[in-house]
Amino acid sequence: MTSYKIALIPGDGIGPAVVEAAWQVAGAVAAKEGFGLEGTSFPWSCQTYLDTGAMMPEDGIETLRGHDAILLGAVGWPATVPDSVSLHGLLLPIRKAFVQYANVRPHRLLPGVEGPLKAEGFDILCIRENTEGEYSGAGGRIHQGTADEVAVETAIFTRAGVERILRFAFDKARERSGRLASVTKSNAQKHTMVFWDETTRKISADYPDVEVKSYHIDAMAARMVMAPETLDVVVASNLFGDILTDLGAAIQGGLGFAASANIDPTRSGPSMFEPVHGSAPDIMGKGIANPLATIWSTAMMLEHLGEGGGAGRIMRAMERTTAQGVGVRPGGHGTEDITAAVLKAIEEE
Ligand code: NAD
Ligand code: IPM
Ligand code: MN
Repeated sequence: MTSYKIALIPGDGIGPAVVEAAWQVAGAVAAKEGFGLEGTSFPWSCQTYLDTGAMMPEDGIETLRGHDAILLGAVGWPATVPDSVSLHGLLLPIRKAFVQYANVRPHRLLPGVEGPLKAEGFDILCIRENTEGEYSGAGGRIHQGTADEVAVETAIFTRAGVERILRFAFDKARERSGRLASVTKSNAQKHTMVFWDETTRKISADYPDVEVKSYHIDAMAARMVMAPETLDVVVASNLFGDILTDLGAAIQGGLGFAASANIDPTRSGPSMFEPVHGSAPDIMGKGIANPLATIWSTAMMLEHLGEGGGAGRIMRAMERTTAQGVGVRPGGHGTEDITAAVLKAIEEE
């Protein structure tokens, strides 16, 4: 029997609850499909930081390397640890260390979910650059605390980094509708974004069958609300992709539905799967976190592992669950009810 080693990082806030839900669902489809899942849980979180002074042990990355994939809940507890410390101590180093340069985030309405828009027939795949750009971490502050203070955050775009994410997006567009939207702000940001646009044009020569259009980020934000059905694959830099995918989550009914996959397309190390949302301190412990975003991310994990049958089972079970009105609106059903409904749909198929 094929078996996969999965590293579970539940993290903070609602992270443990949604990972627990998704792990139950993963176990149910593994039993149906006849493959094994061996999960090892790593309790790395803001509590780890308070206890040890670091978000994960020094050999944390090496420990994760031995796994086939990582399933993460959420990181961040700003009441006790600054977000800039917790995220740069756990989530962002994992993405970088394993060169998970493609962050893939699907945005569409599950059946029965009423989004805030009139539009219904949209199916957007956001591809977010995930290892450099505005998140390079380069920069600094001088004259701190004085009237002359200056803070600089440097966005670093490398040719290798931009080319590989664009090629990944062109490939996805080719597999889907053949349409790609590339998002920049090259009217204002004259170095990095002009470079991205030039690279897009250059690479498009290798994809004559893909129709590529460039948009400014501000216009794209409006388009995602006004005419999301005109979009298919959307590719953007790290920061712009981050913002657009919370917008994508909103138009698909909320952050409780938005899934994501941090992919290393070369497969030299584990890829990581996690919901788009964070630790949601405002609802932690209330039992109302929607686990569907993490369950959908788990389907993406199985697909990546080559278990398309299991991924399909999860997607169909989620769709049957929401079509019955379970988990479709905030406050309607709790984490356990939604999970139970998905498990029942898996069992009954
Ligand atoms: P958030 O995504 O945690 O929450 C935003 C809003 O969405 C909140 O009102 C929350 O209750 C709601 N929400 C989120 N997930 C939900 C779910 N599954 N079901 C129902 N409602 C849900 O964003 P935030 O408040 O800006 O961040 C909170 C913390 O999480 C911060 O520390 C932040 O840095 C961190 N964060 C981590 C990740 C990650 O680990 N990938 C992502 C985003 C934010
Ligand atoms: C996300 C999150 C992270 C990001 C934060 C928490 C650093 O918002 O995964 O979308 O911006 O990448
Ligand atoms: Mn985000």
